[in-house]
Amino acid sequence: MDKMTLLPEEYEQILLIKRDLHMHPEVSKSEYRTTGVIREFLEKLPGVELLETGIPTGVLARIAGDGSGTEIALRADIDALSQTEQYESPWKSLNKGVMHACGHDFHTASLLGAALILTRMKAQGKLSNTVDLIFQPAEEGTTGAKALIDAGLFDRIHPRAIFGLHNWPSVDAGKIVLHEGALMSAKRNMTILIKGRGGHGSMPHLNVDPIVCAAAVIQALQTVVSRNTNPLDAVVLSIGRIEGGSPVNRVADQVEMNATIRSLSNDALKRGIERTEAIVSNTAAAYECEWEIIWEEFIPAVMNLPEMAEYAKTAAAAADPAGLTDAPPSLASEDFALYGRKVPSWFFWVGSRTGGEPVEELHRPRFHTDDRAMRQAAQLYAAAASLFVKN
Ligand code: NI
Repeated sequence: MDKMTLLPEEYEQILLIKRDLHMHPEVSKSEYRTTGVIREFLEKLPGVELLETGIPTGVLARIAGDGSGTEIALRADIDALSQTEQYESPWKSLNKGVMHACGHDFHTASLLGAALILTRMKAQGKLSNTVDLIFQPAEEGTTGAKALIDAGLFDRIHPRAIFGLHNWPSVDAGKIVLHEGALMSAKRNMTILIKGRGGHGSMPHLNVDPIVCAAAVIQALQTVVSRNTNPLDAVVLSIGRIEGGSPVNRVADQVEMNATIRSLSNDALKRGIERTEAIVSNTAAAYECEWEIIWEEFIPAVMNLPEMAEYAKTAAAAADPAGLTDAPPSLASEDFALYGRKVPSWFFWVGSRTGGEPVEELHRPRFHTDDRAMRQAAQLYAAAASLFVKN
């Protein structure tokens, strides 16, 4: 494959978009302005067709190839987070309490950069593949991919493969991470309810105290990771919130907890979920409490399968032959994994730290990206869209 190049004037265009989106971040399912900015950019590009998404925010677009190739989908996410930006720059968030703390503005601008490269190729008669551009809303909270798929995404597009990427702040800008196998974690979030019978604190024999039961549940749940799952599968179970009771002299009626369980192995996660249910139900029974677990959607692990590795390597080499590297997997989750259940997929990380600076991780208030890395990201998207072409 020929080297993919984002021209300097094209880079300037996407840099303006990135900074505009950074100043106007929108949380999941509220990305109306962002959707408008993306649509407006694509509408001006000859050769881009906008398709329906079936949901209120996000954009789906197609660049038709010359018919000699296959169909490839590229995905970027577009939403921001409810947190306050502390990093000072001329492009600091103007939306109070909302921040692009995961760099989805970087991804969006990079995919628009790929659209510039691909439409330029099309104008030159060099675009074999048809390319589907997915600008997905609501990745934070991992509901957007499911919403798009449920709304008929794969009735509208029929890709041979799908590619996505995330900026990666622990890796220097200029590097592309190629990691085969589990890259990002399978996840299931839950709400655990422990229900007792409240009453006067001086009369324990007349009450059923859910706080004591909850304490036992929390202790026992620690054994899911330490005793029930293979340490090499990297399982985490964290209880992030516990709430129940009143200030004085009263035993609570109910305790509510929020927790997440994650693993790089889908099977280990399933085992962890079984053990969580067994521990909560049996501990509750032992303490004469009722219980309920409200499970959120199962998000599978992002798996970079071996059969896609050569293709991914070819694309990365065409984007930047000097920049290839590897990095350890992460227990963060990505709903990109849901597309991977429908079509062959590969997920890249693109280094986004300015060399020599301290790491500001994803979702931190001082998170920021080295925007020069959007060149690699745009070129990588465009190169992935040019795979599977027979010469
Ligand atoms: Ni993210």
